[in-house]
Amino acid sequence: MLNFKVNEDRCIQCGKCITDCPPMCITMQDGDFPVIQDESKCLRCQHCLAICPTAAISIMGVNPDNSTELQYELPTAHSMETLIKGRRSTRKYKKKALDEKTIAKLLETSFHAPTGVNAQGVFFTATTTAEATEDLRKEIYTKVSKLLSNSDFDENDMRFQYLQMAHKTYINHDIDIILRGAPHILIASASKNIPLPKEDCLIALTTFDLLAQSMGVGTLWDGMLKWCVDDFFPELAGRLGVPEDHEIGYTMVFGHPAVQYQRTVQRTPPKINLVRKF
Ligand SMILES: Cc1cc2nc3c(=O)[nH]c(=O)nc-3n(C[C@H](O)[C@H](O)[C@H](O)COP(=O)(O)O)c2cc1C
Repeated sequence: MLNFKVNEDRCIQCGKCITDCPPMCITMQDGDFPVIQDESKCLRCQHCLAICPTAAISIMGVNPDNSTELQYELPTAHSMETLIKGRRSTRKYKKKALDEKTIAKLLETSFHAPTGVNAQGVFFTATTTAEATEDLRKEIYTKVSKLLSNSDFDENDMRFQYLQMAHKTYINHDIDIILRGAPHILIASASKNIPLPKEDCLIALTTFDLLAQSMGVGTLWDGMLKWCVDDFFPELAGRLGVPEDHEIGYTMVFGHPAVQYQRTVQRTPPKINLVRKF
């Protein structure tokens, strides 16, 4: 049941909820108030609630008065541009963990990222204590050591070359290249049964990345961690609580940065194809 409700004292019958509904499942009954006739078509995207100029619509029990008003709350284009250009991969972290409230805020907000067919199926697995991450780190290096001592691996496989280098650096210099000494790891996964599990995970992590950096939290997209928990030691993902039927979209590490960047970098010219006539 969608529980689609229109507050008739507030509704001005402007029809915006009708014209903005992606599956076009809202209709105006005989010049009366909006209704949803075929609930099975609804995407549960809440566009009807979001677009209503008088906060007259409630759906799925959501009270529009509890939503954030957008008019004065959006960051400026300049601050977004600075964030996008100024976010950097952090490869040095303070040992201290973030407080759980910050982690919850980051994950709960990132869950708002768009998902294909509004599936909302992205599942975040994050370590919340430095101790848990340290135990995982030790186990990863123990497993990498065993993997590398197995003569079966293909020396030309880039993943082995990187893991070999990381293992050497960890053993000889106590420097962690796989998790970059971060106090937290993050895995985004989703059921293989939703329409776009991989894309949804990547978009959610991109959202997490930008929000984290806007809050002074360092992040790193971590391909080496992905190889470990997805390609070589999937049992680790299982032990961390990633459901078995899930596809891992990608992995990151995050925490208080131990480095501070002072300015944006300057990229190579963008590769853009502008089509003016077709
Ligand atoms: C999908 C992906 C995987 C990455 N994997 C790693 C990794 O395993 N280790 C690492 O140090 N950096 C990793 N990076 C970080 C990139 O090297 C980094 O984004 C790039 O050098 C540009 O630097 P910037 O992020 O500071 O702009 C990864 C980035 C992406 C997007």
